Amino acid sequence: MGSVLVTNIGELVTNSPELGDESVMGRLYDAALVSVDGVVSWVGSAHDAPACDDVIDCEGAAVVPGFVDSHTHLVFAGSRGDEFAARMAGERYDGGGIARTVAATRAASDDELRRASLARLAELQRSGVTTVEIKSGYDLTVSGEARLLRLARDMTVETTFLGAHSVPAEYRHDRDGYVSLVAGEMLREASAYARWADVFCDEGAFSVEEARHILTASRDLQLGLRLHGNQLADSGGVGLAVELGAASVDHCTYVSDHDIEALAGSDTVATLLPTAELCTRSPFPNARRFLDAGVTLALATDCNPGTSYVTNAPLVVQLAVTLMNFTVDEAIWAFTAGGARALRRDDIGGLAIGQRADAVVLAGPHSVDVAYKASSQPLRAVLRENALLAL
Ligand code: NIG
Ligand code: FE
Repeated sequence: MGSVLVTNIGELVTNSPELGDESVMGRLYDAALVSVDGVVSWVGSAHDAPACDDVIDCEGAAVVPGFVDSHTHLVFAGSRGDEFAARMAGERYDGGGIARTVAATRAASDDELRRASLARLAELQRSGVTTVEIKSGYDLTVSGEARLLRLARDMTVETTFLGAHSVPAEYRHDRDGYVSLVAGEMLREASAYARWADVFCDEGAFSVEEARHILTASRDLQLGLRLHGNQLADSGGVGLAVELGAASVDHCTYVSDHDIEALAGSDTVATLLPTAELCTRSPFPNARRFLDAGVTLALATDCNPGTSYVTNAPLVVQLAVTLMNFTVDEAIWAFTAGGARALRRDDIGGLAIGQRADAVVLAGPHSVDVAYKASSQPLRAVLRENALLAL
């Protein structure tokens, strides 16, 4: 791939305090960076930059690390726009609509699913996402969950088995049978294509005991653990995630002070999903409760057809700042370095030497613009694996 000099950067956010102004954002001004074969090999003042095979001139624009979207359900078919409209007219979200997406997804061919998912992935990438996690969970059969994960695997290494998303209609009268299937045969088949396992552990979804059973079986097969927790009620998901050493517990809409304390003393990241709160008219968790207690936060899109049909990373940052009390810097950090921590990755989420040179070139010179300007064209380019996507 060769060497690429990215230069004339007005403001460079590296998320590496030792490289910049010693803030957690590691900021430099009038900066440049060098990418060799997609990995950062040099960062410094534009005046001192070495010669490279290729040059990308940012003309004074700001550069931030690529967004790490650690929570999506990209592989699905169909639409639930009518359910969204009904919710906006006053109905409550309870996860029941998942069955409709399951029916549409089971009926879709590999090609149809691939095409629809790649289109959503392209939208995410155009909004600055350079790493994406993708969950299964919209088939809920042994071969079908493996199929969704196989399709997802072609799009990312961060694939997650979510057989415990909902109990499918055919198991309505045999819930325990479904939990055993998920923790047994379905998990075994899925584990060939999955890095992670996840459970929707909540009121009306799977109980803490069911989730513990499925997640410990997943851990025995060397899968990493994540959890949908406390989205609909204070239902014990956060405690379980901490108990099992999960990489992340996601949603955290209804959390107790005890949960926050447990998270603060753990390696489990709390991933907040502002667009899921927006599209279900749920209360926005207050990021200050988490951050002031020392909890590591991530932000993600939760792109899915039920609660958050969103492929717009800057929108997530804007809502986190305006409605969840993140500072602008904290929100950018949470959607870059925080997302990387939620995936237990240290090669992404920042632009320090040795990390991947996945970066977003903003349209203007200031990183604050990600949250400040609700521009229809907030980005100028996205750099990923040494390839530049000009926007
Ligand atoms: O993250 N909470 C469960 N899963 C998704 C929504 C699934 C759906 O409604 O299709 C979420 O919000
Ligand atoms: Fe989700």
